[in-house]
Amino acid sequence: MSINQSIKPLTLEEKEHLFLGGCDLVDLARKYGTPLYVIDEASLREICKNYKSAFKNYKNIKMMYASKALCTSALCRILDEEGFGFDTVSAGEIYTVYKSNVDMSKVLFNGNNKSLKEIELAIDLGVGRFSVDNFYEANLLNKIAYEKNKTIDILLRITPGIECHTHDYIQTGQTDSKFGFDLTQIDEIIGLIKNEYKNLNLKGLHAHIGSQIFELKSYYDEIEILIKEIKRIKEIHNIELSEMNIGGGLGVKYTTNDNPPSIEELAKSITDSMQKYGIDVPTIYIEPGRSIISTSGVTLYTVGSSKQVPNGRKYVAIDGGMADNPRPSMYQAEYFAQVANKPKHENIEKVTIAGRFCESGDILINEIELPKLETGDILCVYNTGAYNYSMASNYNKVEKPAMVLVNNSLSDIIVNRETLDDLVSKDVIPDRLKK
Ligand code: LLP
Repeated sequence: MSINQSIKPLTLEEKEHLFLGGCDLVDLARKYGTPLYVIDEASLREICKNYKSAFKNYKNIKMMYASKALCTSALCRILDEEGFGFDTVSAGEIYTVYKSNVDMSKVLFNGNNKSLKEIELAIDLGVGRFSVDNFYEANLLNKIAYEKNKTIDILLRITPGIECHTHDYIQTGQTDSKFGFDLTQIDEIIGLIKNEYKNLNLKGLHAHIGSQIFELKSYYDEIEILIKEIKRIKEIHNIELSEMNIGGGLGVKYTTNDNPPSIEELAKSITDSMQKYGIDVPTIYIEPGRSIISTSGVTLYTVGSSKQVPNGRKYVAIDGGMADNPRPSMYQAEYFAQVANKPKHENIEKVTIAGRFCESGDILINEIELPKLETGDILCVYNTGAYNYSMASNYNKVEKPAMVLVNNSLSDIIVNRETLDDLVSKDVIPDRLKK
């Protein structure tokens, strides 16, 4: 079994309290405050090893962590140590990776509207690959590369025209998508690269079909389309592409309803399809984000007020919610939780976990069976490593939580909690309004 098939992280223990990485989660809540993101280093390293061993028979594989899932300097160091490269989509992600002492040739820059400033930064810092998304960008990139007297290695992001069964907002490979070149536009862009864009060096194709994917068939379909295109490009343009980036997307288990495939199964579907088409196999890039970091992370909250609606639901409010985890309100995402100070207590009531933000939609978990909750209890919500902190906001002017890395009974802060001064640090009062 792979860790993405488990709701809880690898080192989670249920004693008189919940423990993670050998640390008592109730102690961590007390020491660092709540809400608190906690990352289990052992789970993270294990899943990285799992990816590497699952693909060990396929020599030309490059693992790129999709840093949009969670990008902090300490995590970049761990992923670098584990041999991963980085898929980035902004100057901020590129800069974080760079400041973490990563070899920038292992970085890919992706995105549908990279700015001039971002492209310049990426070139100056030596980012290894650009995934070119559209005609405008190809032109712009070539121009900047020419001015800087550089040749840029690129992949072409294509839209394979595949619908996979996931939430509409996180589906990206369908025909009508904002990302990438339509299959019918490939010849035109290749013509431009061959004849005009002399500072672009076309290495391969890139596609990403969506996120939280449970069906391996979507990958078979994607690879079939990519390989057909690679063969067609060879025939028509006489260009031998040596790289193929199939994106990320492998799902994780948020609740017992989710049944994602294992990493071995994903690897097998990829290697089988490559063999089936028997082309001189290009280098394959994969870009997992969620499946790398989601299960390693939990969020701790403190229980505050509660409210029983007469003849209705019982709401229990925690000290975080949609600003530190926007996924339930954005995608109707479901989460599983336990009470960190009562892991062995019987579940006796069905409650709805409400966030503390001023929106009715700020419900973290809709109806979950838990032990009797009291003010001061510590709620541990599982599978919050991916797309929680990375999508967090300061809604209601609330400070973003801290993040702690746990391993072998040690805990280290890897992101400091924001302070009230941080919240006003970018504000400016024009002189004429000063008191
Ligand atoms: N590569 C590309 C080009 C992507 O656009 C993405 C995710 C990935 C890789 C990583 O996909 P993953 O392995 O994490 O599924 N905020 C949403 C997810 C958006 C994913 C966007 N692209 C959520 O919270 O579910």
